[in-house]
Amino acid sequence: MSGKIRRSFGNRSRKSHFGFGVASWNLLFHILVVLLVDGSESRKMSEKYNNYLQLPINNDEIKKGVCQRDPSQMIFFTLKDMKLGQKIPIYFPKKDPSSSPHLLARYEASSIPFSSKELPNLLNFFSFSQDSPQAKAVESTLSLCEIEPIKGETKFCATSLESMLDFVRGAFGLEESFSVVTTTFLTKSSTTFQNYTIFDVPKEILAPKMVACHTMPYPYAVYYCHYQESENKVYKISLGGENGDKVEAVAVCHMDTSHWSRDHVSFRVLRIKPGTFPVCHFFPADHLVWVPTPSTK
Ligand SMILES: *[C@@H]1O[C@H](CO)[C@@H](O)[C@H](O)[C@H]1NC(C)=O
Repeated sequence: MSGKIRRSFGNRSRKSHFGFGVASWNLLFHILVVLLVDGSESRKMSEKYNNYLQLPINNDEIKKGVCQRDPSQMIFFTLKDMKLGQKIPIYFPKKDPSSSPHLLARYEASSIPFSSKELPNLLNFFSFSQDSPQAKAVESTLSLCEIEPIKGETKFCATSLESMLDFVRGAFGLEESFSVVTTTFLTKSSTTFQNYTIFDVPKEILAPKMVACHTMPYPYAVYYCHYQESENKVYKISLGGENGDKVEAVAVCHMDTSHWSRDHVSFRVLRIKPGTFPVCHFFPADHLVWVPTPSTK
């Protein structure tokens, strides 16, 4: 495999200006091994990310009418379900953290183009054949990252921790300190979809603003970060699964969904119309919610 990548890197460097050092190349090698191992899931995964990104479901799904059957869409709920004792079916993807793509340093990330226009070069660079699941994942992540934000939304795809922190700082202002909240599994199990009961009073994390960053399928870590002008509320919710799982889950409620596409998955799952009820959703464990100086009530 290393030979294969080396060859393609050689071809690559002859054709354009990827200017890529040996250190990052070693790093990339490890990254590639990871993506090659679980690449078959990549395409499916990237489609599922529409669930979190306020984008409509894709047309194929509408045509097939599969919308309500897919467990990965079972992350949505309405504010009226957010109460002690409420039972909610929830899907939590479980990934082996050791198989997560690596986060690049900014100088490394900035030496690799991140643009659909460079797709053929990138596929060549990563040694992905054109129709492979990995190629599809790269393509769909790039295109999701290039979609215009919806009205009142600011978005940015971060390819390094530094660029993510710059974006968060830009959202909150330079003076504000901030921290990150994430969903935490307190027990280990492989169950991804089951009924959970809210076993403690949900706590709102008082945050006038929040930035959500979603991991995207890509050979290195890419976070799709976005925030909205409209009101959002962040909650920590203690969940108990039917199998005994305990989860400290992070959920965000979008109080105004009137600008969302009518085809957004959540409206189908919850059987509501845009702008009628706040839409809440849980976050997978590897997605990040940034909030300024948190306090809980
Ligand atoms: C959740 O519980 C309901 C009954 O209350 C049941 O019909 C449903 O199949 C359960 N869902 C899962 C994912 O176990």
